[in-house]
Amino acid sequence: MKFFVDTADVDEIRELADTGLLDGVTTNPSLIMKSGRDITEVTKEICSIVDGPVSAEVTATDFDGMMKEAKVLAKIADNICIKLPLTMDGIKACKHLTSAGHKTNVTLCFSATQALLAAKAGATYVSPFIGRLDDMGIDGMELIEEMRLIFDNYEFETQILAASIRSVNHVKDSALAGADVATIPPATLKALVKHPLTDKGLEAFLADWAKTGQTIG
Ligand code: G3P
Repeated sequence: MKFFVDTADVDEIRELADTGLLDGVTTNPSLIMKSGRDITEVTKEICSIVDGPVSAEVTATDFDGMMKEAKVLAKIADNICIKLPLTMDGIKACKHLTSAGHKTNVTLCFSATQALLAAKAGATYVSPFIGRLDDMGIDGMELIEEMRLIFDNYEFETQILAASIRSVNHVKDSALAGADVATIPPATLKALVKHPLTDKGLEAFLADWAKTGQTIG
Protein backbone atom coordinates (compact mmCIF):
# COMPACT_ATOMS: atom_id res chain seq x y z
CA MET A 1 0.00 0.00 0.00
CA LYS A 2 1.27 3.44 -0.92
CA PHE A 3 1.16 6.23 1.66
CA PHE A 4 0.38 9.81 0.70
CA VAL A 5 0.27 12.54 3.31
CA ASP A 6 -2.84 14.72 3.32
CA THR A 7 -1.47 18.18 4.10
CA ALA A 8 0.05 21.34 2.61
CA ASP A 9 2.31 21.85 5.64
CA VAL A 10 5.84 21.69 4.21
CA ASP A 11 7.50 21.10 7.59
CA GLU A 12 5.34 18.02 8.19
CA ILE A 13 5.97 16.83 4.62
CA ARG A 14 9.75 17.22 5.01
CA GLU A 15 9.75 15.31 8.30
CA LEU A 16 7.72 12.44 6.84
CA ALA A 17 9.66 12.37 3.56
CA ASP A 18 12.81 11.85 5.65
CA THR A 19 11.41 8.55 6.96
CA GLY A 20 11.38 7.17 3.40
CA LEU A 21 7.74 6.13 3.82
CA LEU A 22 6.14 8.85 1.75
CA ASP A 23 4.92 7.99 -1.77
CA GLY A 24 3.07 11.23 -2.48
CA VAL A 25 1.06 14.17 -1.17
CA THR A 26 -2.56 15.28 -1.50
CA THR A 27 -3.76 18.83 -1.03
CA ASN A 28 -7.15 20.47 -1.41
CA PRO A 29 -8.45 24.07 -1.14
CA SER A 30 -9.07 23.69 2.62
CA LEU A 31 -5.52 22.45 3.23
CA ILE A 32 -4.07 25.32 1.15
CA MET A 33 -6.16 27.74 3.21
CA LYS A 34 -4.82 26.12 6.40
CA SER A 35 -1.21 26.54 5.19
CA GLY A 36 -1.80 30.29 4.81
CA ARG A 37 0.36 30.27 1.67
CA ASP A 38 -0.01 30.99 -2.03
CA ILE A 39 -1.12 27.84 -3.88
CA THR A 40 1.54 28.00 -6.62
CA GLU A 41 4.36 28.75 -4.23
CA VAL A 42 3.49 26.09 -1.63
CA THR A 43 2.68 23.43 -4.25
CA LYS A 44 6.01 24.07 -5.98
CA GLU A 45 7.85 23.62 -2.69
CA ILE A 46 5.95 20.39 -1.93
CA CYS A 47 6.79 19.03 -5.40
CA SER A 48 10.49 19.67 -4.74
CA ILE A 49 10.39 17.69 -1.47
CA VAL A 50 8.55 14.61 -2.74
CA ASP A 51 9.32 12.66 -5.93
CA GLY A 52 5.87 11.02 -6.05
CA PRO A 53 2.58 12.53 -7.21
CA VAL A 54 1.38 15.74 -5.57
CA SER A 55 -2.36 16.30 -5.98
CA ALA A 56 -3.35 19.92 -6.60
CA GLU A 57 -7.05 20.64 -6.89
CA VAL A 58 -8.88 22.84 -9.40
CA THR A 59 -11.45 25.24 -7.98
CA ALA A 60 -13.44 26.00 -11.14
CA THR A 61 -16.70 24.07 -11.37
CA ASP A 62 -17.17 24.19 -15.15
CA PHE A 63 -15.26 22.13 -17.72
CA ASP A 64 -13.54 25.07 -19.48
CA GLY A 65 -12.51 26.64 -16.18
CA MET A 66 -11.18 23.31 -14.88
CA MET A 67 -9.11 22.77 -18.03
CA LYS A 68 -7.71 26.29 -17.79
CA GLU A 69 -6.73 25.84 -14.12
CA ALA A 70 -5.38 22.33 -14.77
CA LYS A 71 -2.95 23.74 -17.35
CA VAL A 72 -1.70 26.29 -14.81
CA LEU A 73 -1.32 23.66 -12.07
CA ALA A 74 0.39 21.16 -14.39
CA LYS A 75 3.10 23.73 -15.16
CA ILE A 76 4.15 23.88 -11.49
CA ALA A 77 6.13 20.62 -11.66
CA ASP A 78 6.33 17.28 -13.48
CA ASN A 79 4.92 15.37 -10.49
CA ILE A 80 1.65 17.32 -10.30
CA CYS A 81 -1.50 15.20 -10.26
CA ILE A 82 -4.60 17.22 -11.19
CA LYS A 83 -7.37 16.81 -8.64
CA LEU A 84 -10.92 17.19 -9.92
CA PRO A 85 -14.29 16.99 -8.18
CA LEU A 86 -16.61 14.10 -8.91
CA THR A 87 -19.10 16.05 -11.03
CA MET A 88 -19.94 15.54 -14.71
CA ASP A 89 -17.67 18.47 -15.61
CA GLY A 90 -14.93 16.99 -13.43
CA ILE A 91 -15.32 13.59 -15.11
CA LYS A 92 -15.19 15.20 -18.56
CA ALA A 93 -12.06 17.15 -17.60
CA CYS A 94 -10.55 13.94 -16.21
CA LYS A 95 -11.09 12.16 -19.54
CA HIS A 96 -9.43 15.02 -21.46
CA LEU A 97 -6.52 15.39 -19.04
CA THR A 98 -5.71 11.66 -18.82
CA SER A 99 -5.89 11.41 -22.62
CA ALA A 100 -3.36 14.25 -22.75
CA GLY A 101 -1.04 12.25 -20.45
CA HIS A 102 -1.71 13.98 -17.11
CA LYS A 103 -2.10 12.18 -13.80
CA THR A 104 -5.56 12.76 -12.30
CA ASN A 105 -7.19 12.28 -8.92
CA VAL A 106 -11.00 12.39 -8.89
CA THR A 107 -12.00 13.49 -5.43
CA LEU A 108 -15.12 13.70 -3.24
CA CYS A 109 -16.23 10.17 -4.17
CA PHE A 110 -19.04 8.83 -1.99
CA SER A 111 -20.56 6.00 -4.06
CA ALA A 112 -19.49 3.01 -6.14
CA THR A 113 -21.25 4.35 -9.23
CA GLN A 114 -19.37 7.64 -8.92
CA ALA A 115 -16.15 5.62 -8.69
CA LEU A 116 -17.13 3.63 -11.80
CA LEU A 117 -17.52 6.89 -13.75
CA ALA A 118 -14.09 8.10 -12.63
CA ALA A 119 -12.53 4.78 -13.67
CA LYS A 120 -14.26 4.92 -17.05
CA ALA A 121 -12.86 8.43 -17.49
CA GLY A 122 -9.38 6.96 -16.98
CA ALA A 123 -8.62 8.58 -13.62
CA THR A 124 -5.21 7.67 -12.21
CA TYR A 125 -6.74 7.78 -8.71
CA VAL A 126 -10.23 8.04 -7.30
CA SER A 127 -10.63 9.20 -3.71
CA PRO A 128 -13.44 7.71 -1.59
CA PHE A 129 -13.97 9.86 1.52
CA ILE A 130 -14.14 7.31 4.32
CA GLY A 131 -14.38 9.58 7.38
CA ARG A 132 -17.13 11.75 5.92
CA LEU A 133 -19.24 8.65 5.16
CA ASP A 134 -18.64 7.37 8.69
CA ASP A 135 -19.77 10.80 9.97
CA MET A 136 -23.16 10.10 8.34
CA GLY A 137 -23.42 6.62 9.83
CA ILE A 138 -22.52 4.95 6.51
CA ASP A 139 -19.68 2.41 6.55
CA GLY A 140 -16.92 3.97 4.45
CA MET A 141 -15.09 0.65 4.21
CA GLU A 142 -18.00 -0.94 2.37
CA LEU A 143 -17.45 1.59 -0.39
CA ILE A 144 -13.79 0.61 -0.72
CA GLU A 145 -14.77 -3.08 -0.85
CA GLU A 146 -17.34 -2.39 -3.59
CA MET A 147 -14.85 -0.31 -5.57
CA ARG A 148 -12.20 -3.04 -5.31
CA LEU A 149 -14.64 -5.61 -6.67
CA ILE A 150 -15.83 -3.38 -9.54
CA PHE A 151 -12.32 -2.28 -10.55
CA ASP A 152 -11.10 -5.90 -10.49
CA ASN A 153 -14.18 -7.14 -12.42
CA TYR A 154 -13.36 -4.83 -15.31
CA GLU A 155 -9.58 -4.65 -14.86
CA PHE A 156 -9.66 -0.87 -14.42
CA GLU A 157 -6.19 0.48 -13.69
CA THR A 158 -7.57 3.40 -11.65
CA GLN A 159 -6.13 3.22 -8.16
CA ILE A 160 -8.30 3.44 -5.05
CA LEU A 161 -6.96 6.28 -2.90
CA ALA A 162 -8.59 6.01 0.52
CA ALA A 163 -9.15 9.59 1.75
CA SER A 164 -10.73 11.39 4.69
CA ILE A 165 -8.76 8.97 6.86
CA ARG A 166 -9.20 9.86 10.52
CA SER A 167 -7.64 6.99 12.48
CA VAL A 168 -5.09 4.20 12.53
CA ASN A 169 -7.96 1.72 12.13
CA HIS A 170 -9.08 3.51 8.96
CA VAL A 171 -5.62 2.82 7.52
CA LYS A 172 -5.73 -0.84 8.59
CA ASP A 173 -9.25 -1.39 7.27
CA SER A 174 -8.47 0.36 3.97
CA ALA A 175 -5.46 -1.93 3.51
CA LEU A 176 -7.59 -5.01 4.32
CA ALA A 177 -10.25 -3.84 1.83
CA GLY A 178 -7.62 -3.56 -0.91
CA ALA A 179 -7.16 0.22 -1.30
CA ASP A 180 -4.05 0.91 -3.38
CA VAL A 181 -3.17 4.12 -1.55
CA ALA A 182 -4.14 5.82 1.70
CA THR A 183 -3.79 9.57 2.06
CA ILE A 184 -3.24 10.16 5.73
CA PRO A 185 -3.04 13.27 7.93
CA PRO A 186 0.47 13.69 9.42
CA ALA A 187 -0.56 12.92 13.02
CA THR A 188 -2.31 9.68 12.00
CA LEU A 189 0.63 8.64 9.84
CA LYS A 190 3.00 9.10 12.80
CA ALA A 191 0.57 7.23 15.07
CA LEU A 192 0.85 4.09 12.88
CA VAL A 193 4.16 3.22 14.56
CA LYS A 194 2.83 3.53 18.10
CA HIS A 195 2.04 0.59 20.38
CA PRO A 196 2.23 0.71 24.21
CA LEU A 197 3.76 -2.77 24.32
CA THR A 198 6.56 -1.63 21.99
CA ASP A 199 7.34 1.27 24.37
CA LYS A 200 7.11 -0.96 27.43
CA GLY A 201 9.22 -3.72 25.88
CA LEU A 202 11.92 -1.29 24.76
CA GLU A 203 12.04 0.29 28.20
CA ALA A 204 12.59 -3.15 29.81
CA PHE A 205 15.29 -4.13 27.30
CA LEU A 206 17.16 -0.87 27.88
CA ALA A 207 16.93 -1.23 31.67
CA ASP A 208 18.42 -4.77 31.49
CA TRP A 209 21.06 -3.62 29.03
CA ALA A 210 22.17 -0.85 31.39
CA LYS A 211 22.69 -3.52 34.10
CA THR A 212 25.22 -5.35 31.86
CA GLY A 213 27.44 -2.25 31.71
CA GLN A 214 28.19 -3.08 28.07
CA THR A 215 28.25 -0.91 24.94
CA ILE A 216 28.06 -2.03 21.32
CA GLY A 217 31.06 -1.12 19.22
O1 G3P B 1 -8.23 13.67 1.52
C1 G3P B 1 -9.42 14.29 1.82
C2 G3P B 1 -9.37 14.92 3.14
O2 G3P B 1 -8.55 16.03 3.14
C3 G3P B 1 -10.68 15.20 3.74
O3 G3P B 1 -10.57 14.78 5.03
O4 G3P B 1 -11.08 14.76 7.40
O5 G3P B 1 -11.71 16.75 5.98
O6 G3P B 1 -12.94 14.61 5.76
P1 G3P B 1 -11.63 15.27 6.09
